[in-house]
Amino acid sequence: MSTRRALLVGAGGLARNAWEPTLRSNPGTEVAGWIDIVPGAAEAAAHQAGLDGIYTGTDLEEALHAVRPDFVVDVTVPSAHRDVTIRSLEFGVPVLGEKPMADTMEAACAMVSASERTGQLYMVSQMRRYDANLEALKHLIETTVGPLGILNSDFYIAMHGSDPFRHNLEHILLVDMGVHIFDAARFLAGRDAVAVYCDEFNPPWSWFHGKAAATCVFEMEGGIRYTFSGCWCAEGFHTSWESEWRAVGERGTAVWDGVNAPAAEVPASEEGFVRKQRRITADVPEIEPFFAGSLADFLRALDTGATPHGECHDNIKTLAMAFAAIESAGTGCRVPVRV
Ligand SMILES: NC(=O)c1ccc[n+]([C@@H]2O[C@H](COP(=O)([O-])OP(=O)(O)OC[C@H]3O[C@@H](n4cnc5c(N)ncnc54)[C@H](O)[C@@H]3O)[C@@H](O)[C@H]2O)c1
Repeated sequence: MSTRRALLVGAGGLARNAWEPTLRSNPGTEVAGWIDIVPGAAEAAAHQAGLDGIYTGTDLEEALHAVRPDFVVDVTVPSAHRDVTIRSLEFGVPVLGEKPMADTMEAACAMVSASERTGQLYMVSQMRRYDANLEALKHLIETTVGPLGILNSDFYIAMHGSDPFRHNLEHILLVDMGVHIFDAARFLAGRDAVAVYCDEFNPPWSWFHGKAAATCVFEMEGGIRYTFSGCWCAEGFHTSWESEWRAVGERGTAVWDGVNAPAAEVPASEEGFVRKQRRITADVPEIEPFFAGSLADFLRALDTGATPHGECHDNIKTLAMAFAAIESAGTGCRVPVRV
């Protein structure tokens, strides 16, 4: 199979620090073109990456005609995802796009429709799905703890100096970080969300313009309750970026700190007011992690027609969790999670 040629769209922090190196490291891909709406930005990024001579520019349509890429990697700001994705799909080119899928549900629905209309793959890269410990936790839930009844995740980190687009987001925690964590919750539960009650606010000391803290109670299919608590201006005792997880099932509980191998505890005997517990540490599989894993999944889908994680029909259900939580916080009511 010949090397697949990528057009990188967006030359900001993540494109330069993650996607260009990921595309360079994969033997099956190369960066054939790079654009950014800011004049000179893509050229400077290409030069910094040692890619002098590749196509650079500011206009997507011109780049698609000039480069004729095998796929587009969309690393623009969320408000640009709709336009970049739909135009690329309509040009006949599959898209691997960054999260969150879009800045509105209406835009996300239009993107899914474009994928259907054109028959082209649109996958949202949820790179945290490609975490061996997350896989191990899912396996532990299914084999040792389940059937699952309660899932809980806590995310507390103080993030300073973020990019302007992120800093100005009104619902920064739910839309920017929440989608990573809600996506992991859907993966772990193997179920989608049906309803949510959410309280979202900005702590008095927050340096963010938007709301940097939230607590959500989701009802998932099958009656599973998933609770999320998080804050992006919480100094001290940071959780990991993957969150801290607790999964409670009929047979026991599994926990994961987001860094080390997950573990489960199940009763060691059938006696006692409070039973002695037996601890089981998960077997952690070897997988291609994070951005490399996401790219490999996308390429595998192009090669075989398999459905990758983050395929748009699936990923829109993650985005819907964030927007339903926002709606609930705005109305003060429990609301359905709808696509
Ligand atoms: N998976 C992760 O862990 C992770 C981490 C950081 C960012 N992200 C996501 O990656 C995306 C980019 O984030 P970033 O931190 O690189 O942002 P950034 O602001 O540093 O870069 C975005 C770039 O896109 C360019 N751009 C905007 N509209 C464009 C358009 N229509 N055409 C071409 N270029 C355009 C901007 O000029 C800018 O250079 C966002 O969706 C963000 O949520 C994901």
